[in-house]
Amino acid sequence: MLEQHDREYVEGRVRAGVLEQTTVDLLDRLGLGARMHEEGLVHAGVNLAHDGEMFRIDLEALTGGSTVMVYGQQEIMKDLFDAAAERGVEIIFEAEDVRPHGIDGDHPYVTWRKEGREERLECAFVAGCDGYHGVSRGCIPTTVLKTFERSYPFGWLGILAEVPPANHELIYCNHERGFALASMRSPARSRCYVQCPLEDRLEDWPDDRFWDEFCLRLGVESAAKVARGQSFEKSIAPLRSFVAEPMRFGRLFLAGDAAHIVPPTGAKGLNLAAADVALLAEALNEHFNRGSSDSIAGYSARALSRTWKAERFSWWFTALMHRFPENGPIERRLQVAELDYIRGSRAAQTALAENYVGLPLEWTTK
Ligand code: DHB
Repeated sequence: MLEQHDREYVEGRVRAGVLEQTTVDLLDRLGLGARMHEEGLVHAGVNLAHDGEMFRIDLEALTGGSTVMVYGQQEIMKDLFDAAAERGVEIIFEAEDVRPHGIDGDHPYVTWRKEGREERLECAFVAGCDGYHGVSRGCIPTTVLKTFERSYPFGWLGILAEVPPANHELIYCNHERGFALASMRSPARSRCYVQCPLEDRLEDWPDDRFWDEFCLRLGVESAAKVARGQSFEKSIAPLRSFVAEPMRFGRLFLAGDAAHIVPPTGAKGLNLAAADVALLAEALNEHFNRGSSDSIAGYSARALSRTWKAERFSWWFTALMHRFPENGPIERRLQVAELDYIRGSRAAQTALAENYVGLPLEWTTK
């Protein structure tokens, strides 16, 4: 495993915080769930609000027992790094200029530089898990690679603060002034977001302004439970939908953000990456231990089938909850009508719930 950064950097980067049931099950299957079950927060429901009116989606009841787990991506990284050492999986940190070669032949290899030395590893396969900006996707010839992309005309301003969350479960808010999300990392640590214009800079958003805007969008009742505190992390993230096809070319596989980006609404990014890797592990296991290459050949189609469903959900949930600058009063009324419909319809709530807790991996089996 080749990692461009050092361990501290990867463990310190603030990322997503909600694990699908599918991801929780996967970590359990790998024997990696102990600390997650101790420290993570199980959420049996999630809340939607518009203009201060809130209703709850009972994830557990609607999905026959599935829930989600609040456990930061950074914590998962720590657990994975610890387990890798215990299981004899070598991770080379601070590997510079990592490049796959010969992926369309039978003898691919990867080169990199470490402490000034050129290194090379002969491979059976190469898994490109190097993110949106990584080099792997670029190894697929442009005559083969198809990409699909949408950028959204706004960003998410997010903060972390050492204060108890406003609510014991997440609240996704659609407000006239834009989207807001009340999330958390622990019973003592809040993770809060507001939709903001892409041009905004962090200097435009001192903590007081952030909390004022957040409370306004949450509505009077929930705002009364907001504990304001100094932020210790603040960032603005753009929103994008992106998919690259295929997810395998020759002996190179793409997994995670190297192949797809989702807008954050619904917290699918990390979960999608975990699902890709689970499918890839199954394919490699079939190949090396059962002598069948069918699942290698089928990886791209299986992973894309699940990816597109998560892309659809994230796109839909983003469209439902945000204020789009190009939209007017009719689109706003239509959003409110849809939220009212969801509030009153068990069928609509079930559709949301089963996507939110994560579609089962086996649905993608062909
Ligand atoms: C968080 C992020 C999300 O995108 C989301 O849908 C829910 C929670 C979070 O960072 O806590």
